[in-house]
Formats: sequence, C-alpha cells, structure tokens
Amino acid sequence: MWLTWRAATERALYGEDGFYLRERPSGHFRTSVSASAAFADAVVALLEEVDAELGGPDVLDLVDVGAGEGMLVTRVLAAAKPALRDRLRVTAVDLSPRPEGLPARVAWRRSVPVGITGLVIANEWLDNVPLDVAEQTADGPRLIMVDIRTGEERLGGPLRPADRAWLDRWWPLSRVGSRAEIGRPRCEAWASVLVRLKRGRAIAIDYAHPVDNRPLCGTLTGYRDGAVVTPIPDGTCDITAHVALDACADAGRRAGAISTTLSTQRDALKALGINGARPPIDLARADPRGYVRALARASEEGELIDPSGLGGFGWLIQRR
Ligand SMILES: C[S@@+](CC[C@H](N)C(=O)[O-])C[C@H]1O[C@@H](n2cnc3c(N)ncnc32)[C@H](O)[C@@H]1O
Repeated sequence: MWLTWRAATERALYGEDGFYLRERPSGHFRTSVSASAAFADAVVALLEEVDAELGGPDVLDLVDVGAGEGMLVTRVLAAAKPALRDRLRVTAVDLSPRPEGLPARVAWRRSVPVGITGLVIANEWLDNVPLDVAEQTADGPRLIMVDIRTGEERLGGPLRPADRAWLDRWWPLSRVGSRAEIGRPRCEAWASVLVRLKRGRAIAIDYAHPVDNRPLCGTLTGYRDGAVVTPIPDGTCDITAHVALDACADAGRRAGAISTTLSTQRDALKALGINGARPPIDLARADPRGYVRALARASEEGELIDPSGLGGFGWLIQRR
C-alpha cells in the first residue's frame, strides 16, 4: 500500500498495534531522560525557577508531553523537595498505555490538558510527530509516497498550499533532487501546547536544524533495538526526523508566547548546574564509595552536555 510519509508514519507508530503502542522506547534508543537522573534534577531546578516566577502558586503543573515510560516524572517526584513536591500536579501525556508502576499521583492522558500553570516539558516528542516529505523536481516540489511494506519510494502529487507555504518559508528547496521534511504538523502540535499554557514555561528539546542549515536530503531515520535502520513504516521500528525548532518557535509566538529562547542542551543544562565536574580527589580517601558515585554522576552529566551528542540538542523555551 502506498501512502504519504505522514500517513504511513502515523499508522506505523500510533495505529492499531503501532510501534509506540506496543514497544517500550528505552528498548530501542537512549534519551537524556534515560541517560541520567541528572536530567530530572535539572527539571526540578527548572520547576523551582518557574515556581518562583509564578509566586509559589498552591498548585504548580508539571506536564510531560511524549512521556514515554514516565521515567522523567517519576524521577522528578523522587528528587523534588517536599515543599515543592506537595504542590505539584503531575500530568504525563502519551499515546501509549499507562506504564505499570507509575506513581498513582501522576495523571496519564492522551492529550495535553488546558489551563496549565507551571512547566511543560517535551523531550524528544516533536521528532516523533509524523510529517510529509517533499522532493524538488524541475516542476517544483512534489510529495514522496512510500510503500508501507518495503519502504520503497516514488513521487506523488504537488503539495497542498499550506505545506507549500511552510516549505517556502522554513525549508526552501533549490536543487532538483533535494528533499525536505514538511514540519507544519509539528508547528501545529507545538502551538497547541502553547495555547494550553496559561502561565509559565513550555520547553521542547530535540535534535534540530536551523533554517540556514537544513540537511540537503532530510533526516528521516529508523531505530530498532538500539541500532539505526532504514526507516520502513511497517510498525517494526521507530521513525524519526530532526525538528525545525525555529519554525516551532515562530508557531509558539503566534500562539501567545511572550518570550522565546533557542539554545543548546549544553548551555541550558550548564545554567541549571549540570557541568560534568569531577569530584575532588580528596573524596576518594574520605569516602571511596561516595567518590565512585560522584565520578559516575560526572560521567553521566558529561554525556548530557557533550556538544557532539545530547548536548547538541536544541532547547526551545517559551513563556506565557
Ligand atoms: C522518543 S519518545 C520520548 C520519550 C521520553 N520523553 C523520553 O525522553 O525518554 C516519544 C514519545 O512521544 C509520544 N508521542 C508521539 N506523538 C504524541 C502525541 N501526539 N501525543 C502524545 N504523545 C505522543 C510517543 O508515544 C513516545 O512515547
């Protein structure tokens, strides 16, 4: 069966018995959340900042969009000080079923709630929002169609006007044969988060590329069992593509964001106290076990801020 990439990915990842409804993400790839508890500690630090900005409300929302196995919210609840933890209303949003063992106080939903006062965090969510792929031809951009059983591709029809407008603004194609991933559904998804944020911050974290440096042939990739595989939309692998976070930022502004910061995970985490510093050598004598623990933690922090790895991820931070 031939479909556009967006329809094929929707079906493969989230359709009946789709990849994400069946599989646990950590079995297939590593994210900052699963790499280290230091990431959750950084989110606690963010929550403390947002709490202070909002004047310490009686109820402070933490909404994790694309929550996967719920590891981030579980770790945040374990790490937050009681004075903050007791005021947190924690919501995990995902299309997959509620994971077993999730703390009872975490609400598990398929859609982002309205009226959020607090922090929304979306780590590696947008890269899994399905999108269409276009290829430049002598007659302008055309949609790519894909065979959902084999991953074979062929040219389809011209783009819908809204997709063409997105491409012209955010990923202009010049050379015949060059390809682009049409990020419009991700912009809409991000805007839908911003409209549900009443007051506070929304943060999207993902591998990203800027408008003046989009990859020539796109970034569509498959992951299975920890390895990169050909992206065949048959439900047996994850299908992902880097995110045009600058375009999402623009959509967020139109949806009501009053301030926008685009930075890297390295810079954002360092500002929150995650710096990969090794423990002092004196600790090795005074507390050998503590020293080994601190060394392991430093190494995990190093992975989170490595500029050629997770540290190179984009952080889009918007406020309302
Ligand atoms: C790559 S996983 C990230 C999991 C987790 N945030 C982490 O960092 O480990 C992406 C998750 O987004 C979820 N997802 C994708 N589209 C969604 C949507 N429209 N609404 C809710 N969840 C979605 C998928 O089911 C999947 O669990």
